Amino acid sequence: VWICGHLRKRRKGEPPLITGWLPFIGVTLDYVSNPLGFLRETQKKYGNVFTCKIAGKYFTFVTDPFSFSIVMRQSKNLDFQKFAVGFSHRVFGHADFSSSLFSESYREVHSIFRQTLQGLSLQQLTETMLSNLQMVLERGLPYEHDWLEEGLQSFTNRIMFEAGFLTLFGKDAGFLQADGTSGTRIWMQKAVQDFLAFDRAFPLLAAGVPIGLCAEAWQAREALAEELLHDKLHHRKCISDLIQRRMDAFDRMHLDETGKARTHVCMLWASQANTLPAAFWSLYYTLRSVDAFTAACTEVNRVFSGQLINNQDQTLCLSREQLDSMAVLESIIEEALRLSSASMMIRVASNDFTLTLDSGQTADVRKGDYIALYPQLIHLDPEIYPDPTEFKYNRFLDEKGQRKSNFFKNERRLKHFLMPFGSGASECPGRFFAVHEIKQFLALTLWHYDLQLRDPDATLVPDGTRAGLGILPPSRDVLLRYRRKTNTTTE
Ligand code: HEM
Repeated sequence: VWICGHLRKRRKGEPPLITGWLPFIGVTLDYVSNPLGFLRETQKKYGNVFTCKIAGKYFTFVTDPFSFSIVMRQSKNLDFQKFAVGFSHRVFGHADFSSSLFSESYREVHSIFRQTLQGLSLQQLTETMLSNLQMVLERGLPYEHDWLEEGLQSFTNRIMFEAGFLTLFGKDAGFLQADGTSGTRIWMQKAVQDFLAFDRAFPLLAAGVPIGLCAEAWQAREALAEELLHDKLHHRKCISDLIQRRMDAFDRMHLDETGKARTHVCMLWASQANTLPAAFWSLYYTLRSVDAFTAACTEVNRVFSGQLINNQDQTLCLSREQLDSMAVLESIIEEALRLSSASMMIRVASNDFTLTLDSGQTADVRKGDYIALYPQLIHLDPEIYPDPTEFKYNRFLDEKGQRKSNFFKNERRLKHFLMPFGSGASECPGRFFAVHEIKQFLALTLWHYDLQLRDPDATLVPDGTRAGLGILPPSRDVLLRYRRKTNTTTE
């Protein structure tokens, strides 16, 4: 790699090559310290397509949003799974699904995502989530009228992790019998901590540091896997179709038991790692903006206040139509995602080929190179989104209060203007469920609680050290004051 690093020269037809001065390291340090700033600067200097040497690998960035679909359509030349599956194998320690041994069965495992996270299964999943969210919220809601204080991030993580975990992996007997004093609750508190400890190490793991060198993360991952062994999962009730079908498929593939459990940790991570910070920012921005708060509460009241609540079972319902009708919450969530998403979409070139961009410009790509899209360049582009760093709760609403989807650059309408869930072959299959569960979380907390930020004027920025890995968490927690509303259990 070192020798190649020195020798690679830009060939005729290839995009500008930015290698930096240091072999292997290339422009890694500039990129890592501020990916968005680096890409903006490089785009300004070299145009819409350029190749950078980052950590010994060649990444060709395509920065023009009108060319994104062109890249997405190149599935013959650009492989998504090669990178993603290899990465997952290294970080989660499950079987190497890229080996020919598993390729057929892995296609089946992959198809389960779409079959169980969309359509009728999505309906079921969403209903279970609503009921679990209410159960977790009820348990943490003291009736006295004193204000409680807790970090907003810890509040969000606690509630969303537990409800999301139970929705996917079902409940054990302890949850079904008691309303929360059993050992299972203590386990759940430890599971959140383990999840967060593992997730904290993610930037290092993504950068290639072996998990064996991150002792805390390794222990946390193994502790989570221990609880997701099939022997234990068989004793849980109400397991989602998604997990049940993955269990059946892994049993048929004859993976070893620890390997199966680690694939479930991978699924747990995919379902939570972005959802938790996205839920945090959605609630945070709602509480910081009087306009957002007022509009959100009006919408939530419209949906809930008509519901007659049976006193024995004070369960609130949210039908699919009601969820879809909550355009203000949807716009808040999309705006929060726009501001906090910093994912990178990566494909591996499986052949030497020529990419023809939207402008007609061509770029020769070498087999084995990475092609990368960085949607944050669009999300924070002032031409597409005026005042791009400002939260505007109604940015994704049109003048009739309906979902707005016409955004422009160079006076041309953009197909891809918001991409927190990726696009094409790697588009997140859980995106509908994610938006539903965050809407439910916002609706229920706004309905049941009086909520205030302790210091609403303090500024809070996303944690840039996770750039490239999805939704950025806040750089620190902020104090939330909350108390139960008195009027929500009556009519
Ligand atoms: C993949 C974002 C929530 C399941 C992805 C990818 C992104 C993403 C960007 C593609 C990664 C890549 O290109 O390599 C998000 C965001 C979420 C969210 C922003 C929340 C706000 C969820 C949830 C689930 C889920 C709730 C499941 C319950 C998955 C799975 C994949 C994935 C299984 C891998 C798909 C594949 O291999 O084709 N997600 N996600 N995600 N996500 Fe999500």
